[in-house]
Amino acid sequence: MNREQISALSHADHPIKAPLGDDSVRRLLEHGLPRGDERVLDLGCGSAEWLLRALATYPRLRAEGVDISEGSLTQARQAATSLGVQERLVLHHREAADFSSPQPFDLVLSVGATHAFGGLLPTLAAARRHLAPGGRVLIGDGFWEREPTPETIEILGDFADLATTVDRVVADGWTPVQGHVSTRSELDDYEWACWGSLAAWALDNPTDPDSPQVLETATTRRSEWLHGYRDSFGFVCLVLRRTSD
Ligand SMILES: C[S@@+](CC[C@H](N)C(=O)[O-])C[C@H]1O[C@@H](n2cnc3c(N)ncnc32)[C@H](O)[C@@H]1O
Repeated sequence: MNREQISALSHADHPIKAPLGDDSVRRLLEHGLPRGDERVLDLGCGSAEWLLRALATYPRLRAEGVDISEGSLTQARQAATSLGVQERLVLHHREAADFSSPQPFDLVLSVGATHAFGGLLPTLAAARRHLAPGGRVLIGDGFWEREPTPETIEILGDFADLATTVDRVVADGWTPVQGHVSTRSELDDYEWACWGSLAAWALDNPTDPDSPQVLETATTRRSEWLHGYRDSFGFVCLVLRRTSD
């Protein structure tokens, strides 16, 4: 099974591919979409769960999503059709950094996808290129709650602590107008959902040739979390406006 298939199975019970509960997602979208008729762009949208929720809540909204995962975009298209929002959603199968649009966006979202641009500040620079005057950015990225081990940095990449993360964003010309730090419960729910769904699939499909590999992946990833990054990894979402200009 390839990485994309593993990712699809592991997110079966947690369609938002980030450690946030439904209420947190709803509240962040409310702060990102004060009017309800915005043009929204999601860079690294995955199965477009953020956009689908926004489109279902705000009937005058229009949205575009960009992702390199064809499987996730197919899933997004099917879900959009079931929800009846497909005419207001455009999906682009493309490197997020290569995306361009003739029209700017009132909200640019990018949650859990800063690796697509090489980090938080390059993601904000990309978001800014797509932003209409007075627009907002909703960005989600990791931070260190506690000093990570070298093994953790190897698995997750490197981050800064929360205060330093926000200081860097502010120094880059942005002002947070709302934010959300994932709770321990949201972080734990996400990890249990991912590795639990994967393990359950393996147990439900014992004769599938991929079953042993999938169970081993679930076991390894659960162990990396519990023995490794559970106490050091945090996740923050920020709703940002340009401080000036
Ligand atoms: C952790 S998931 C987050 C998905 C979504 N933002 C969410 O919160 O549900 C990261 C997404 O980034 C996408 N991605 C990774 N590298 C990318 C790139 N270079 N260009 C576009 N998308 C990319 C992956 O395919 C994946 O769907």
